[in-house]
Amino acid sequence: MKILVTGGLGFIGSHTVVELLQKNYEVVIIDNLSNSSISVLEGITSITQKSPQFYKLDLKDKLELSEFFEEHQDLDGIIHFAASKAVGESVEKPLMYYENNINTLVLVLQEMRRKELSNFIFSSSCTVYGQADELPITEEAPVKKAESPYGNTKQIGEEIIQEYAKVNSEFSGISLRYFNPIGAHKSTQIGELPIGVPQNLIPFITQTAAGERKELSVFGDDYPTQDGTAIRDYIHVVDLAKAHIVALERLIQKKNKKNYEVFNLGTGKGNSVLEVIHAFEKVTQQKLPYKIVDRREGDIIAAYADTTKANNDLGWKAELGIEEALKSAWEWQLKQD
Ligand code: WQD
Repeated sequence: MKILVTGGLGFIGSHTVVELLQKNYEVVIIDNLSNSSISVLEGITSITQKSPQFYKLDLKDKLELSEFFEEHQDLDGIIHFAASKAVGESVEKPLMYYENNINTLVLVLQEMRRKELSNFIFSSSCTVYGQADELPITEEAPVKKAESPYGNTKQIGEEIIQEYAKVNSEFSGISLRYFNPIGAHKSTQIGELPIGVPQNLIPFITQTAAGERKELSVFGDDYPTQDGTAIRDYIHVVDLAKAHIVALERLIQKKNKKNYEVFNLGTGKGNSVLEVIHAFEKVTQQKLPYKIVDRREGDIIAAYADTTKANNDLGWKAELGIEEALKSAWEWQLKQD
């Protein structure tokens, strides 16, 4: 079985490629390296002793993309990670986000149609729910007006796939709505590689603990939560990667109930920022310097997944807890220094 992974040298993409290779899939990676490094390919090979085919290719390049699909007409599935994902950056550069996240999705789907390919897994996000009215969040929770162009590209992306599936019965797609992916592979050969100042909590924590940042700014402690800080569902990136294989096999084995499905991927447990800090200090025995500052524009109070559908229908459940994830993130950070 041969699988295309777009964005396969990215954070979640690289961990998914490792799981695919370890399950003896043939993997072809497309990545434009705009938010990754070729060293990730070496990391994948050092873990798996396999060298997946890699194309440094920008999905916006229609001609290059069609030449790729001419060469690879025998794909059994596509996992589509390639997209820009920085919420704040998307507010500053909306057109870049719509071009990079939406146009490329359309081009990939057009190639799938031309080659009559099916089995498409889309990297989506719990950000489509905004601040959900009820917690935990089920897949039936309403999709709300996105707080950022990034979140909007995920909502629009899901709608494009759903509308395409509606009129192409030979196509099957699944959108996976990630909660907060964190951690790194236990080998410390691959992990999160934030470029510049990390926007996300965990890389900022590990860089602060490593002395690369002076202190963590906690964005608000006046939320209506137990300790006043915001709550998220932090899921180990390896658990998340494994969910992609389960979703892909659901389509390949034609176990899907409809030709477009959506699954929330989280642990089902919420942790506040302060709880994450305390867990990190416990796991690493590192004191974390932090200060409380104002809330970050656009942040929601709380989000954590109702995992019933993923557990029962998809047949997947997160196995690794937050302490394991934080430990792996710290070990990965130490490897960088
Ligand atoms: C987590 C919590 C912050 C940094 C976003 C996207 C989501 C996905 C993950 C791409 C929040 C707090 C953070 C810091 C802090 N992106 N925080 N100080 O915003 O939940 O989700 O990233 O796939 O789609 O929406 O993640 O890690 O930025 O923040 O206090 O320096 O940590 O306020 O409560 P977020 P995050």
